Order: sequence, then C-alpha cells, then structure tokens
Amino acid sequence: MKVLVATEKPFAAVAVDGIRKVVEEAGMTLELLEKYTSKQQLLEAVADADALIVRSDKVDTEVFDAARTLKIVVRAGAGYDNVDLAAATAHGVIVENTPGQNSNAVAELVFGMLVMAARNQYDGTSGSELKEKTLGIHAFGQVGRNVARIAKGFGMTVSALDPFCPDEAITAAGVKPVHSVEQLYSENKVVSLHIPATTETRGSVGFDLVSLMPSGGILVNTARKEVIDEPGLIRALEARPDIRYVADVRPDAADEMTERFGKRVFFTPKKMGAQTSEANINAGIAAARQIVAYLREGDTKYQVNK
Ligand code: 3PG
Repeated sequence: MKVLVATEKPFAAVAVDGIRKVVEEAGMTLELLEKYTSKQQLLEAVADADALIVRSDKVDTEVFDAARTLKIVVRAGAGYDNVDLAAATAHGVIVENTPGQNSNAVAELVFGMLVMAARNQYDGTSGSELKEKTLGIHAFGQVGRNVARIAKGFGMTVSALDPFCPDEAITAAGVKPVHSVEQLYSENKVVSLHIPATTETRGSVGFDLVSLMPSGGILVNTARKEVIDEPGLIRALEARPDIRYVADVRPDAADEMTERFGKRVFFTPKKMGAQTSEANINAGIAAARQIVAYLREGDTKYQVNK
C-alpha cells in the first residue's frame, strides 16, 4: 500500500518523520511530493497511490481520474473546500479531514495579526489595546473556541454567532451567543472570521456587514478568502477610513487594497495559520493514523463525503 503526501506547502520535517513512522509501522510505504510546481507532478505521483494526504492542495476530478488505486484522501487540516467531494464519491474514494488538530495554531495567529493591526503594523505611531474591547467570533467551531479562550487572556468581551452550535455550548465557554450576523458585526469592534467556504458562505461578508462595525473596527480573516465579497469590502474600507482588514488569506485584490488602504490592511503572502511544527505534527500524524485505521479496519469516523 502506498501513501502519498502531496503538499505544495510542506509540513515541518519533524511532522513528515512522524507520518512516515505511522505509515511504515503499518507496513505501508510513504512517498513524498513537496513544493510541486505543476499539476502534472501530482497526477503522476498519485497514479499508484492507495491513500493521499494533502493540505490546501486542489484535489479535483482530474486527480481522481489519474488515481486509479486511490481509496482515501485525508485533508490534514479542517477546511476541505479544496477537495471535490462529489468527484471523490463518484470514484469510490472516501474523504476525511482532521478536525481540531491545527486549531490552536490558527487561533494564535488571529491574535498575532490583531496586535499587529492594533499597533499600526509597528510603525512607531500610537496604536490601541485589545483589553476591554469587544470581539465577535463568526462561527464557533474548533478555531473559534480557541480564539475565545485566548481572548479572555487579553481581557476582551467575547460574543459568538453559530447557528450550528447550541447556545448552551457557547455560554459554557463564557461567551455570549448572538443570533444574527448584523448583531455580531454591529456590536463588536473586532470580528474574527471562522466560517468555512461553502455555497452558502461564499461572498457573504461584504459592504453591508463590514459597514456595521463600530468605530475603529478590525476584521480578521484566518478562514478563507472566498467568504469575502471583495468589491463590497473595498467599498466599506473606502467609506469607513477607521476600519482595518487583516487576513491570513491573500485576497485576489491584495495589491489594489494595499495600494489604496496602506497600513489599514495586511495579508500574509501564503496561508500561515496552520504553519507551525505542532499543528503539522498533530494534523499530519492524525491523517496518517486515520488512513491506517481506514485501510485496516474500515474506520470512517472522520469521513466528510458520507
Ligand atoms: C485548514 O483548513 O486546516 C487551514 O486553513 C490550514 O490550511 P493549510 O494546511 O493549507 O495551512
């Protein structure tokens, strides 16, 4: 059995060592395709793979067509919008993610970006503090919960919106549940995005919501660029010179936004939220273990294309 790790943005070496150990101890072989620059390389490497571990790498029909012996794809991470689930199902391949394994890393980056924004990107001018500010968490999943935990250390007042999470679970975390997006954006000086990219959420955060934010608002996006309506966001930033936008997911209009809004915006050049050795180890090893559990025992606990 061959397990292919195909990562355009590689895991830390220590995580690869851990993945290799799990795979080899199960009597399987590991092949590594890192920093590949063309899809052709992926198509060739996947041709005889039984299992595939990816990160944000695009796994579409063409990949499934090329992968004639593939049985399972594990997205080592949370969001699986990069994997064509319908194509996987049509090819008889199961798809899994590794929920929660990289969530602390992403949550910590939220605060790295927030402090940077609140301190004017360390340009020597007087900034502001996070203490006693309001924070709205847009989706209270694993990352959102870690964001809430860290926010308390900063002394922030935290609210969250999540129609899929019962109020009791939000309250139990010491967070105020809110029930409309309008309320979330209008009541919180800082809003942190944690919604997945789905047909419902794509382009769902734009002019109307961002314009509702209180004076000096900061929107931080460590989720997906697709959830933002970029022209709408640009209009809001134009209309409201007090608002800032920081994102771990470079927008399509990044250059235009940087030119027009200067230090009010900041974008990482590559998605960095989960790029820690700890997150790589957690997610990578979980992915390897899930593959072994599926190929050996048919365990489908984390399957997302059911
Ligand atoms: C995720 O969905 O798990 C995060 O966005 C991390 O993505 P990455 O593995 O491409 O860094």
